Amino acid sequence: MNRHLFIHLFLLVALFVTNAVNAAVPKKRPIPTIFDGRCRVNETDVEQIRANVNPDPVVAGKNVTFSVSGLLSQDIGDNGTVLVGFKDDLGFTIGNVASAPVPPTKAGNEFSVDVTVEAPTVLTDSYLMQVLVVNPSNPPDPQKDIVGCTVAVVGTDDGPDSGLNGSPNKIVVSDIESFLIL
Ligand SMILES: *[C@@H]1O[C@H](CO)[C@@H](O)[C@H](O)[C@H]1NC(C)=O
Ligand SMILES: *[C@@H]1O[C@H](CO)[C@@H](O)[C@H](O)[C@H]1NC(C)=O
Ligand SMILES: *[C@@H]1O[C@H](CO)[C@@H](O)[C@H](O)[C@H]1NC(C)=O
Repeated sequence: MNRHLFIHLFLLVALFVTNAVNAAVPKKRPIPTIFDGRCRVNETDVEQIRANVNPDPVVAGKNVTFSVSGLLSQDIGDNGTVLVGFKDDLGFTIGNVASAPVPPTKAGNEFSVDVTVEAPTVLTDSYLMQVLVVNPSNPPDPQKDIVGCTVAVVGTDDGPDSGLNGSPNKIVVSDIESFLIL
């Protein structure tokens, strides 16, 4: 599976504009970083997985290891792959996207995998980290291929009632028109 296809998939899962992301005033980054964002592809929810980062907080330009795990209702196949990367608060990918194989895992069983990526050399006050589990197919079919996802939003907090830590559904990552254009 070539790298470009993966990055292509990664780009497809773009930011759904929510008040939490765009209207929030950047504040200090919550530690530990919490992956509580959900993803949608073509209006369809993607199952949520777990992740954490080390070091936490991420240091610009340094390697960061994502420990990714979860339990999906679909099999992770022979070519199952985890993708990790960064996006700015407009949803554009920044820096590198890294991938690692996920051991084939039957539906209903835990998987766990670590993947390391060099963080972007410049990290703005607010950004996102996104993790995808993909069963790649050729040609890519994002709605079918992306079987797990989670997102952490760093550096934004829109208040105690709707804080990023408190309401997992507040931050949603979704497809946008570019899905159809691509
Ligand atoms: C998006 O979802 C609609 C409705 O379920 C479906 O008809 C369409 O084929 C999907 N598009 C893609 C690209 O998967
Ligand atoms: C990140 O890890 C890779 C692979 O181990 C290494 O080649 C690279 O130099 C590291 N980058 C930094 C900034 O430590
Ligand atoms: C895994 O990748 C290989 C080589 O690209 C391909 O032949 C095979 O069909 C893929 N397996 C699955 C389950 O997609």
